[in-house]
Amino acid sequence: MRKRSTVAAIDVGSTKVAVIVGGVTEHGDTRILGVGVAPAAGLSRGVIDNIQSARESVDVAVEKAEQACGMRILSAVVGVSGGHIASQNNRGIIAIPDRSRPISADDRSRVLESAGQISIPTNRQVLHVIPRGYWVEGTDPVSDPVGMYGGRLDAETHIVTGAVSAIQNLTKCVEGAGVQVDDVVLESVASATSVLQEQERLQGVAMVDIGGSTTSIAVYEEGAVTHTACLPIAGSHLTHDLARVLRCPWESAEEVKCRYGAAYASPEMANETVEIQAFGTQTQKAVSLLHVCEILQARSEEILEMVALELKRAGYLDRLAAGLVLTGGSSQLRGLADVAEARLGIPARVGRPHGYSGLSDLIGTPAYATAVGLVEYALQGRQRPLESLTTGFEPASSGGFFRRLASLGRALMPQ
Ligand SMILES: Nc1ncnc2c1ncn2[C@@H]1O[C@H](COP(=O)(O)OP(=O)(O)OP(=O)(O)O)[C@@H](O)[C@H]1O
Ligand SMILES: [Mg+2]
Repeated sequence: MRKRSTVAAIDVGSTKVAVIVGGVTEHGDTRILGVGVAPAAGLSRGVIDNIQSARESVDVAVEKAEQACGMRILSAVVGVSGGHIASQNNRGIIAIPDRSRPISADDRSRVLESAGQISIPTNRQVLHVIPRGYWVEGTDPVSDPVGMYGGRLDAETHIVTGAVSAIQNLTKCVEGAGVQVDDVVLESVASATSVLQEQERLQGVAMVDIGGSTTSIAVYEEGAVTHTACLPIAGSHLTHDLARVLRCPWESAEEVKCRYGAAYASPEMANETVEIQAFGTQTQKAVSLLHVCEILQARSEEILEMVALELKRAGYLDRLAAGLVLTGGSSQLRGLADVAEARLGIPARVGRPHGYSGLSDLIGTPAYATAVGLVEYALQGRQRPLESLTTGFEPASSGGFFRRLASLGRALMPQ
């Protein structure tokens, strides 16, 4: 697949905004060129609820990434998730009038267009039309029909839609930070791009990105996306449970969860204690690790149960030979993959971005699967011609001032 040369990606998560700039090396591999991260603000359940705060976070992360890579970011691919995302599979059929000629790329585009047509309300928009397979005169599915012969071509697609207002708010927030939006990509599809292995995609796998406030699922079978979903539950629920039950500040609960927490509780933990910051007169108090992990186990099992229910409802739970690949910051909770295997009865592993040069200890972790995946997705340059691919960058010497000026110029230009 043809690759774009340099791209920027923005993952506006509910806990952090990550901006990553990536490029292609002379050997055709992806190289990470710069990273900027800022704590997220103005997001609730994966959707922007305060555009001003969200814009400021994006602004900070973009400036950091610009400093890191020495280039000015004018445009980027942006990830989207949230409860407003919906998906469905659809089928399209076209006739090939002259069966003596081979099926062309044009025919393939026509059948995809037909398979991408669904009726949706005006407050929703199509985000992705992802090809799942082609059939030439109803025979076995083929991965690419171009060059084959037949009088009829069928295609199946997976169509992802989202709420126009949520996507518009996201776009405006990024544009407000001086960066034009090249493309809006479903976060679970982006994460899958950076963490899944080809074999997993072929044999059936569910990629489950457990972030701060959303859990995004993308199911792959025979190499293609067949189901996507977004659940409004994730790591912040674990922290919230700890803070509420232990009556401690959020930051203390978060620290205990990440440093000592586990998705399972075992009897040996009864002898261990952890220090937490407490409300009231006491500044620190000791709590049993067993108690902490019992709280985390209950919520972890609930999250996994919801994932299992979603996969079962969609009819995939028993078909995933490669099982689950867990990613996102919350997949780092100790023992989560083991608990998932035990609860769902299918294989599970933690997935992190792999196979990229320039990965640091930070962005090589599961929390950066989406942002790295967005870079890879953009580099694969699905739609745009190669000539326009480097226009999103300028030398960084001009800094944030010129970026803002550029965005101001765009805002003042007639459409
Ligand atoms: N070692 C750890 N153990 C358990 N949880 C962790 C660990 N490290 C990070 N987390 C949790 O990961 C979550 C953040 O994950 P991530 O960065 O993937 O979220 P996000 O992309 O900002 O959010 P979302 O995808 O929901 O919009 C937080 O809830 C954080 O507590
Ligand atoms: Mg995320």
